Amino acid sequence: MGDVFGGVGRRALEEHLARLRDELGVDFCVVNGENAADGRGITPKLADKILAAGADVITLGNHTWARRELAPYLAGTERVIRPANFVRSAPGTGLAVAPARDGTQVAVINLMGSLFLDVPHSPWELVDELVEEARRRAPVVVVDMHGEATSEKVAMAFWLDGRVTAVIGTHTHVQTNDARILAGGTAALTDAGMTGPHDSVIGVKTELILSRLRTGMPVRFEPASGDVRIEGALVECDPATGRATSCETFRLALGAG
Ligand SMILES: [Fe+2]
Repeated sequence: MGDVFGGVGRRALEEHLARLRDELGVDFCVVNGENAADGRGITPKLADKILAAGADVITLGNHTWARRELAPYLAGTERVIRPANFVRSAPGTGLAVAPARDGTQVAVINLMGSLFLDVPHSPWELVDELVEEARRRAPVVVVDMHGEATSEKVAMAFWLDGRVTAVIGTHTHVQTNDARILAGGTAALTDAGMTGPHDSVIGVKTELILSRLRTGMPVRFEPASGDVRIEGALVECDPATGRATSCETFRLALGAG
């Protein structure tokens, strides 16, 4: 599922994710949760709520440390991961392994792009080692590439083609129309979109963003509430080989919010 934005996005998951999983036959669900706390960061309580709503693993991104209380929580959970290319001594890890409903082990890797985002290590420096470790532990490997630039996310999918099941981009909150299976059997989508209010500028009240952009004056961002959608990607794969067999975007419009 694409970035969950604010209480509106989180409630949409709480109300619909369990049913959607059943209806769509989803065996494993990854949710990017780094905007769950009013649009910036996530708290332990909110992470627990998203896991209880039906997420198997929560990934994060550039707002990971926005909530101070998350650091000790990350050190003690195996279901919530932060980008692997953060400072190595930071709490938490960038790789999780958990069983899908059918018993298949699934590894999830969280990386952050280095174009237009501030990362201590390039994702390219450590991705190969990380993928090797993931493949030793699970036949199915999903990569959340949290990045600003479409080019970097597309490039990472090609680099990992044939070695992982899927490379799904997050962070921009705008779902892209390029879901595909690459030649080596890796599913790729540049951005999964946003689970949250779409009558907004990527989740924030439109008038606040317009004021900031037009005047250059600082503005306190507030989450919007209208046109709530659940967005994400659906990937089918062969659990024995980890090769993807289909990849498509998912969108459910829920209305006013
Ligand atoms: Fe982000």
